[in-house]
Amino acid sequence: MPQKYKEVSGSMSRMGGIGWLWIPVLLLSFLVSVPWAHAGDEVEVYKSPTCGCCAKWIDHLKANGFTVAVHDQNDMAPVKSRLGVQPQFQSCHTATVGGYVIEGHVPAGDIRRLLTDKPDIKGLAAPGMPQGSPGMEGPYKVPYEVVAIGRDDSARTFSRH
Ligand code: CU
Ligand code: CU
Repeated sequence: MPQKYKEVSGSMSRMGGIGWLWIPVLLLSFLVSVPWAHAGDEVEVYKSPTCGCCAKWIDHLKANGFTVAVHDQNDMAPVKSRLGVQPQFQSCHTATVGGYVIEGHVPAGDIRRLLTDKPDIKGLAAPGMPQGSPGMEGPYKVPYEVVAIGRDDSARTFSRH
């Protein structure tokens, strides 16, 4: 009995020793997974409470790894004017992320590229409500452009879809 007990306790203390090594590894993986490690990925979305396509666009962002904070607004006009979204760029919802404005049904991939490249612009817009854009899926698709809005409200093509 003493012999057997020794073997068991010996192997247990060896496992305990290896177990301690996992603590810094687990701690590191936890730090990498907490939201602030991806600061800038949180998207603030302003939308009308009754907007269905806005909710679908939010689902598209979440499915692509973005954290979304939704702010329902009965009147979107003050939001767009506060964020400086001119009429030619306007769509349904308005969002902000990483210091940029995102207007309308801009695909998540374009937002990722914006946050990676960090151009000196006001933001991105998919003006109007392009059929087939994320959140606007339907029976048909029309080609549309995502526009880079300059700080001077100039427009240039950011991507074509
Ligand atoms: Cu919409
Ligand atoms: Cu919308």
